[in-house]
Amino acid sequence: MRYLSEKETDEACLLIKNGELVGIPTETVYGLGANGLNPSAVEKIFVAKGRPQDNPLILHLGESEWMARYCVEIPSVAWVLAERFWPGPLTLILKRNELVPNCVTAGLDTVGVRCPDHPVCREILRKVDLPIAAPSGNTSGKPSPTSPRRMGEDMEGKISAIVDGGACTVGVESTILDLTQNPPCILRVGGVTREELETVLSLREDGSCSSEEAPKAPGMKYRHYAPNAAMTLVVGEYEGSSLYIKERLSKGDGVLCFEECASRFSGGYVVSIGKENHFTEQGRTVFEGLRSFDDTDVSRIWAQCPREEGIGAAVCNRLRKAAETVVFVNKKGEMI
Ligand code: TXA
Ligand code: MG
Repeated sequence: MRYLSEKETDEACLLIKNGELVGIPTETVYGLGANGLNPSAVEKIFVAKGRPQDNPLILHLGESEWMARYCVEIPSVAWVLAERFWPGPLTLILKRNELVPNCVTAGLDTVGVRCPDHPVCREILRKVDLPIAAPSGNTSGKPSPTSPRRMGEDMEGKISAIVDGGACTVGVESTILDLTQNPPCILRVGGVTREELETVLSLREDGSCSSEEAPKAPGMKYRHYAPNAAMTLVVGEYEGSSLYIKERLSKGDGVLCFEECASRFSGGYVVSIGKENHFTEQGRTVFEGLRSFDDTDVSRIWAQCPREEGIGAAVCNRLRKAAETVVFVNKKGEMI
């Protein structure tokens, strides 16, 4: 596996055109990219990631106009959303046309599309002039990679190259919005917040798709984002969660916490995800924080949970999925 610099996009395009797998930088997380119109290239993605076949992939587009190349019955709100949020961390679920291979969509008649906001990725998309199918560049079940090095840890020996576009600036994956349902609903919270979406359209009252509703984002049913050590997520105001963790912390445990609490956990292997009210910083750092525990020999991890505000909602969602146990505490650190 080669690391390509951001000047070597021609090389990356050639590999993609030849049906090879290439790690691509996006503003959310690194993606495991292949020519999205070539079924045998797309099938390699599932092998490299160890991904279940029933979990569809997102197509990355170079321009909003490409939506019309691969989607049908596009509602006008899709163009409004594209105008407002693309390039950016928003994936739209739309009806697909016959150009999109079945293996991309896991047989669904819909497809997820987004224009990523990373200059290197956009350059590659424009040069190949093909939609790039790409899931997050981790082994299935592990935290998503936000740097080429982390992607390399999972993909060494399995893919041709990774293009180094630096650290991801958003750090959590795109928000997935299902426009085939009326009213539209959020399948996965992510880099574009519910509050931002609601400036453009009315979402279903609770915002998300109810659990009986099909199809949900199939990927959301799998255990995800988990570091090797078992993690307990402590939900509640940070004074309370600090007390709860401090009382139970053993020497050598890992702690994922807000910056202002870091000094309270002496004896632990402490990783800060940024200030308690700095949600974008938490988004940028959460996956790297989770992965950094795998470089240590901690056998358990305690984590504080951000408030579900702005990008904090996405960070909280990822931490819940990464956790083996979730506890809720009051201000005094007592379980509720
Ligand atoms: O930010 C992102 O979205 C990153 C970067 C690389 O673009 N990609 C990403 O892909 O997170 P992945 O495969 O790790 O997650 C895509 C999610 C999965 O949960 C999948 O089930 C869902 O999107 N999905 C894809 N196509 C869908 C469809 N047609 N209907 C419902 N859910 C879909
Ligand atoms: Mg993923």
